[in-house]
Amino acid sequence: MTTLSDTPKRYGLVSRALHWGMAALFAVQFLSAAAHWALPRENALREALWSYHATLGTTLLILVILRGIWGLINISRRPSHSGTMGQAAKVGHIALYLLMAVVPSLKLLAYAGGTRGFTYLGIEILSARITEISWMQALGGWHGELGWVLAFLVVGHIAMACIWHRIILRDDTLKRMVG
Ligand code: HEM
Ligand code: HEM
Repeated sequence: MTTLSDTPKRYGLVSRALHWGMAALFAVQFLSAAAHWALPRENALREALWSYHATLGTTLLILVILRGIWGLINISRRPSHSGTMGQAAKVGHIALYLLMAVVPSLKLLAYAGGTRGFTYLGIEILSARITEISWMQALGGWHGELGWVLAFLVVGHIAMACIWHRIILRDDTLKRMVG
């Protein structure tokens, strides 16, 4: 039976809901970034997808903070990772967490030091400044590049889970998060 909390054998319901819910939202977020990068400005699909990039990105930041807190609460009973490959998986997961937090934070930092302000779900969370703070803008300039690094890591993560563990090793790693 699946429990709410994690156990050494499998991730619990809360971790799974956060993992799969966020995976779906990240897919949409990367789609909007890809359309922004690849399609011309006047393209209707690009504009439709882009219209929620900032709101969805901020929602993902809130979710990753909640997921991180839940992960820390469960840290002593989560599935463990042994051996060299296990340690590599751990490092990979930490890198995913870091980028999931840093990528949206950098853009919000740029808005915090910018002249336009930022509104989330109709609530002004960052007010417009009269002058820009240049170091905040400079750090915010890394948002897109690091966003693509995150996308690249996610592709590697999915390949490790679905090809390396499921097809080559045929072990139970995927079952920890599914079924
Ligand atoms: C985890 C969440 C996020 C991811 C994965 C992400 C990803 C990306 C990527 C990959 C790009 C580059 C698109 C291109 O090359 O044309 C981009 C651009 C952009 N993002 Fe995000 N983003 C996230 C959150 C946010 C948030 C929270 C905001 C605003 C508060 C935001 C605002 C922008 C803007 C204005 C651009 C265009 C300018 C630029 O490249 O810096 N994003 N995002
Ligand atoms: C088809 C898509 C995906 C599959 C099949 C998948 C599969 C898995 C599996 C099997 C695990 C458990 C691995 C273990 O315990 O060693 C896991 C954990 C994890 N996955 Fe994914 N994943 C997917 C998408 C994503 C995405 C899009 C992200 C982040 C952007 C992500 C981030 C993580 C993280 C951080 C963990 C560590 C456990 C946690 O704290 O939640 N995954 N994934």
